[in-house]
Amino acid sequence: MKLPRVTLVSLLTDSIALKHLRVAGFRHAVVAAEYAYDLAKERNVCTDLATKAALLHDIGHTSWEKHGKWDFESYDYFDIHPIKGAERAHELLTLKGEHLGKAREIALAILFHSGSSPINTNLKLTPLQELVMEADDIDELDDGEHHNIEISLEDALDRLEILDNKVARHLDDCNKECWDCRKGQV
Ligand SMILES: [Fe+2]
Ligand SMILES: [Fe+2]
Repeated sequence: MKLPRVTLVSLLTDSIALKHLRVAGFRHAVVAAEYAYDLAKERNVCTDLATKAALLHDIGHTSWEKHGKWDFESYDYFDIHPIKGAERAHELLTLKGEHLGKAREIALAILFHSGSSPINTNLKLTPLQELVMEADDIDELDDGEHHNIEISLEDALDRLEILDNKVARHLDDCNKECWDCRKGQV
């Protein structure tokens, strides 16, 4: 028996996501997922993986202090938020019952989403990883302003519901036979 697909709405309504995605802003997460859907469709990348990775890409943001002060330099240089994000997203996804193959792909896309990161220097990113990084970059504003524009949780969930339906339709029409795919079942 196939299990139901893990949806974007079910991810955002989990207490782990509600707590941590709030830090970088629900709007940025939703907009990145919307861009990721368009890019994935265009490039024939899995829309399910792309939207989930983009939605959760900044789930790793956290406070990072040295001697009681925000330490951006080491936070940025040592990739704290992509590493923490990959771990948190993986925990959330497996808790929700995501296929472990998909949870791995999503977590890795989050790990490599930061274009300025030293970890990316000698890496050849996969199409999914590249796409998630781009979807994030499209929404970027100077001085991190994109994290400060807010939308309500209700609006975020309405937009994700629309996106969930688009992904479900796209998976139904998808003729790739990925071993870890539950297609469009919701
Ligand atoms: Fe980020
Ligand atoms: Fe971001």
